[in-house]
Amino acid sequence: MVGTTSRNTEVEGVEGGVGLTALLVAAARAIETHRHDALARDVFAEHFVRAAPACAEWPVHPGTVEGGDANPLWGRFARYFGLRTRVLDDFLLRSAHTGGVRQVVLLGAGLDARAFRLDWPPGCVVHEIDREGVLAFKHKVLDGLSATPKATRVPVAVDLRADWVTALAAAGFDPAAPSVWLAEGLLFYLPPAAETYLIDTVHRLSAQGSALAFEVKLEKDLLVYRDSPLYTSTAQQIGIDLLSLFAREPRPDSAGDLVAKGWSTSVHTPFEFTHRHGRGPLPEENDALAGNRWVFADKPRR
Ligand SMILES: C[S@@+](CC[C@H](N)C(=O)[O-])C[C@H]1O[C@@H](n2cnc3c(N)ncnc32)[C@H](O)[C@@H]1O
Repeated sequence: MVGTTSRNTEVEGVEGGVGLTALLVAAARAIETHRHDALARDVFAEHFVRAAPACAEWPVHPGTVEGGDANPLWGRFARYFGLRTRVLDDFLLRSAHTGGVRQVVLLGAGLDARAFRLDWPPGCVVHEIDREGVLAFKHKVLDGLSATPKATRVPVAVDLRADWVTALAAAGFDPAAPSVWLAEGLLFYLPPAAETYLIDTVHRLSAQGSALAFEVKLEKDLLVYRDSPLYTSTAQQIGIDLLSLFAREPRPDSAGDLVAKGWSTSVHTPFEFTHRHGRGPLPEENDALAGNRWVFADKPRR
């Protein structure tokens, strides 16, 4: 195992522990999909939510959100996930269509349906890494919908705190070909040593011309926002205590580590994209999103 501390080993599937956060994001995407000004559309998202008894009461439509946009969880936080989905959709599609990359790796893929909903160029392979229980649930729902992927989809059931490289290689990943990697809503659940290993491994397996996007939280002490509306309403409305799932040890400087390895990086607040798209969350007092950053990294062609 990479790293010794872990808060989320108990539950393997989507019904609890960190797996349940995949359903939280799916519900947010379902709500975003039904907005008249949707930033991203994911027609699969509400099917995941409706298939899980743990979320029987969760909304999947903005019209049924109590308090509407003022609801800190299903209003503002859901919109955050909608914006994040859009920005990272654009990143992946740019890498594939403009950068010519044909190999995609979704780390902590959860219920990400990008293999099914994005228009990939011919020849694309999408590797989806998550734990076995999460992927088993995903497959059950997608099979029930007779969903057809728009790329070659390769699920890789493995724990990212373990030796996931062997599993990815066995699944056919080719380190000689450029790749695009995504760690969306993942790193803060991993022990710091597992994050360092992940970044080192992405570097090692990335041919020149590869790209990586990931999300980090910059706060030294995550508890500083424990009373924020976002964390308290997530706990009160759906019983997910995000702070208890996050790994709270000091984080590595992954963006800095990539620069030291020769990558070029750019670091953005989500709010920059809110302004760019004309909609999305804005900063507020006592804001659990204040330290969130989206990092985009490129391994230069020489
Ligand atoms: C907040 S969800 C995000 C899912 C997806 N990236 C998205 O944005 O829709 C976090 C995901 O990370 C996965 N995850 C957390 N720790 C993991 C680990 N140690 N190994 C593999 N997956 C893990 C969870 O199972 C969950 O699917």
